[in-house]
Amino acid sequence: MGRLLQGVRAGRRAAALALLAAAGAAPAVAQQAAPAPPAQAGAQVLTGARLFQEHCALCHGATGRDASVFPRPIWGPGHDIAKFGTARGLFEYLQMLMPFDNPAKIDDAQKTAVLAYMLVRNGNLAPAAQLPPGGDATPIR
Ligand code: HEC
Repeated sequence: MGRLLQGVRAGRRAAALALLAAAGAAPAVAQQAAPAPPAQAGAQVLTGARLFQEHCALCHGATGRDASVFPRPIWGPGHDIAKFGTARGLFEYLQMLMPFDNPAKIDDAQKTAVLAYMLVRNGNLAPAAQLPPGGDATPIR
């Protein structure tokens, strides 16, 4: 990552964190209840569902679609995650940048589980599937 890009990221991070603080640090989570995990979910997807609520719902909403800090859905109608191409591509983004408040908060295995959960919600992966660490070539549509 270039120095300039890092600066841009840092700027955005500061802006998002300021937004969070302004929202009273109790933002999106309370707005909607966490949905039931996908039917027939395997162990990895179940773990991902739990981790998503713990580490991502704060900014992306309990449903991934009802956020205040980042207003675009991160799966389902209106999402823009197809630009990451594959499961591996999206993993690399999560590895670098998410959770936005502290990307080191969860490890790569945990990020892979969240990734699997996201792709199930987006209809790209069967609920019982298990992604290898760091994702694979599963296309994101
Ligand atoms: C503190 C708030 C915050 C948390 C927590 C957070 N995100 Fe984000 N997320 C953001 C912001 C802000 C952006 C936009 C970043 C940018 O444009 O540089 C973003 C962007 C994304 C994107 C890209 C979406 C798109 O359409 O471009 C994905 C995917 C994503 N986040 C997934 C996650 C996942 C998965 C987690 C939990 C592991 C998470 N985020 C936790 C604030 C957050």
